[in-house]
Amino acid sequence: TVECNGETFHVYLTEKELRERIAELGKELSERYAGKNPIFIGVLNGAYIFLSDLMRRVEIPCEVDFLKLSSYGDEKVSSGQVTDLKDIDANIEGRNVILVEDIVDTGLSMKYIVDKLQKKNPASIATVTLLHKSEATHHDVQLDYVGFKIPTLFVLGYGLDYAQEGRNLAQIYILDGE
Ligand code: PRP
Ligand code: MN
Ligand code: MG
Repeated sequence: TVECNGETFHVYLTEKELRERIAELGKELSERYAGKNPIFIGVLNGAYIFLSDLMRRVEIPCEVDFLKLSSYGDEKVSSGQVTDLKDIDANIEGRNVILVEDIVDTGLSMKYIVDKLQKKNPASIATVTLLHKSEATHHDVQLDYVGFKIPTLFVLGYGLDYAQEGRNLAQIYILDGE
C-alpha cells in the first residue's frame, strides 16, 4: 500500500498489466496509422506518463504536442467546469490527431477538447484513454481506444493525482476500503 495526502491506497492495476495493455494499444495504433504521420496530443497533466509509454510502443513516424486543462482542481470529484490552461502549438489542419487522456470520468474534458480541436480542421481525430469510468460518463464522447474500463472508484498513480500528488507512482492505486 501507499500513502497519499493522509489516505491509504492499494494496487489496482500492476505495472505488468499496464505494460501489456499499452503494448497492445501501440500495436493497434501502428497498424491503423501506418503512412499517416499522426500527431499525438496529450492532455496535461494526467496523460503525460501514459502518453510517453504509449508512444514508445508506436513503431511508425509520429509527432507529439500537448494541451492543458483542468476540471478536477484538487478535489476527488469533477468540478463540472473546464478551465483552459494551455493550447497546442502545432498546426493540426489536415492532420490525423490521436488525442490521449489518462482517464475519462464524466466525459466533460474529452468532449470539450474534441470540440475545441475539431474547429482547427484536422483530417481526423481518434480518442485514446487509458481508463474509462464508464458508469460515470454522461457527456456524449466517442472513445476509440480504451485501455481499461473501470468502476466508479477514485484512482491514483501513473499520472493520476490526488491534490497534485501521486502522479509518480508506477502502478494505479485505489483507496483502501473500495
Ligand atoms: C482529470 C483527468 C482527465 C479529467 C477526466 O484531469 O486527467 O483529464 O480529469 O474527468 P472528466 O471526464 O470528468 O472531465 P484534472 O482536471 O484532474 O487535471 P490533471 O490532469 O492536471 O490532473
Ligand atoms: Mn487531466
Ligand atoms: Mg487531476
